Amino acid sequence: MKIGCKIIRLTSVDSTNNYVANLIEKGEIKSGTVIMADDQNEGKGQRGAEWHVKPRENLTFSVYYSDVNLSVDRVFVLTQLVSVAIVDLLKKFGIVSSIKWPNDIYVGQQKIAGVLIENQIAGTLISNTIIGVGLNINQQEFNNFEATSLFLSSGVSRKPVDVLYSFIESFNLLSQEFNGNELIELRKLYMSHLYRLNVSAKYRDKDGDFEGVIKDVLDKGELLINKGNEMKTYTLKEIQFIS
Ligand code: BTN
Repeated sequence: MKIGCKIIRLTSVDSTNNYVANLIEKGEIKSGTVIMADDQNEGKGQRGAEWHVKPRENLTFSVYYSDVNLSVDRVFVLTQLVSVAIVDLLKKFGIVSSIKWPNDIYVGQQKIAGVLIENQIAGTLISNTIIGVGLNINQQEFNNFEATSLFLSSGVSRKPVDVLYSFIESFNLLSQEFNGNELIELRKLYMSHLYRLNVSAKYRDKDGDFEGVIKDVLDKGELLINKGNEMKTYTLKEIQFIS
């Protein structure tokens, strides 16, 4: 799944994910197109949250891909691909990062990037996917102390569009490498970067706070945590990380 055949740069938009969804509806977008916005005034995050960053200082973009031909059971492969591509691109800039399940990218204890994937499903297959990425680039102050940027992590400021080109390169290389049977290797890579893997830490589920250890991420994307004497699996809405 090669991306970046066409790149559209917008000065301002509500949400690049919504912009792509509108173009899909009108049949006016080609697979692999990337839409980037200098300013996004209604950016969407995971779990219905908002994604607010300073205009022109950060990278916000969405990738459209059609004919994904992935069965819904294997949808987590997309998450793995994007997360590992971001970790790879940060490595190019000298930044070591990790993947906080399912697809937040962290430098130490601070978030540098977030991903929102919205899929359209036809029967048992993913027909279209919109991969939205927000990556903090030059922003120096955040309301949230748990956030960082490329500048704060490396001391170097960069043009958001240049970072986008690096992402496209990393993503295309990875997806070329991991087509078909190589998916086990992609999974291994994802796991090798997983934040808090095998580390005892605090979590909150429907029964309250507890100390647990992340043991695995299953093929369908659920998180496997050792809680007391049991192994429990969680979907995104069922578990919270407590710092
Ligand atoms: C998260 O961590 O909660 C996910 C954040 C995803 C933000 C990106 S910015 C570009 C794209 N357009 C959106 O409205 N959201 C995603």
